[in-house]
Amino acid sequence: MLNAIRNLAVFVTALATAVPAFAAGEVNLYSYRQESLLKPLTDAFTAETGIKVNVVHAEKGLTEKIIAAGDNNPADLVLTVDVGRLEEVRAAGLFEPVESEVISEVVPAHLRHPENLWFALTTRARVIYAHQDVAEDALTSIRDLADPKWKGRICTRSGKHVYNIGLIASIIAEDGEEAAEQWLRGLKANLARKPQGNDRAQAKAIFEGQCDLAIANRYYMGKMHYNSKSPEQQQWAEQIRVVYLDQEIGGRGQHINISGAGLLNTAKNRDNAIKLLEFLLGETAQGLYASANFEEPVREGIATDSYIESLGSFKADRINLQEVAEHRAAAARLVDRVGFDL
Ligand SMILES: [Fe+2]
Repeated sequence: MLNAIRNLAVFVTALATAVPAFAAGEVNLYSYRQESLLKPLTDAFTAETGIKVNVVHAEKGLTEKIIAAGDNNPADLVLTVDVGRLEEVRAAGLFEPVESEVISEVVPAHLRHPENLWFALTTRARVIYAHQDVAEDALTSIRDLADPKWKGRICTRSGKHVYNIGLIASIIAEDGEEAAEQWLRGLKANLARKPQGNDRAQAKAIFEGQCDLAIANRYYMGKMHYNSKSPEQQQWAEQIRVVYLDQEIGGRGQHINISGAGLLNTAKNRDNAIKLLEFLLGETAQGLYASANFEEPVREGIATDSYIESLGSFKADRINLQEVAEHRAAAARLVDRVGFDL
């Protein structure tokens, strides 16, 4: 009899650990992130916790959607790239602070909102792609992009794209608007062609000999290098050397942006949402970010992909991204003022 009870207890315990979904519930998230990237992360979370993750993928208009839904908004979390997009949701008053020891421990202060209204999950370095024939010391600072010696040799996507707005905003934050304007005019004068295409299109342009330098996010090097569907992209990557800027002692460091998240103040599954956030900062998820999307984990000590590792390491700019985000509107005006895209 005693044995039977013992066996039953073992069985019940096994059941509880095998199918925690019974009581685990769900968490709903709005995401600008690609489904192919997010799915392995949310699957791993569900496997570990039993909590179901429902995802609404959005291209744009997320803030408007959340505002329009009001209290009926089903989402608990927003997950997106670029501090600008997180700031947009925060400025609309839609985030609430997250109290979490994991977050405070794992995410450095400059990579989160001062009141934990949003925080980074990964960083994304916006580097220079240089043709391998460009001398190694030819370019060391973001300021050098305005040097007339690069006339007709630089390619970039639109100045209005969030990635470039973030970069220009960081220069306004650190050097002031006047210096930033001078710099942007100098860079425009050095462009090989009208700003166009995405970051990978700039790698292609280097490959085709249209330019020697391009402004692009580093993770695309991984995406091109491992792109078995488009072998030509592997070639584009092969002739590029990644240049990290402002690395000298006392220098500002390489400009980065983030992918990150925030907890909506209408969240109905608050506890599960915080569990998911903490999971995304854990070793498993951080490793997935590094190996599947080639971004830099915010958690220290995570192994990076071997190819990305071969591109070298860098010192990142430690300016608080909240401060950078505050200059985004000025950056957009500056792009117009200098006619950067014309
Ligand atoms: Fe991207």
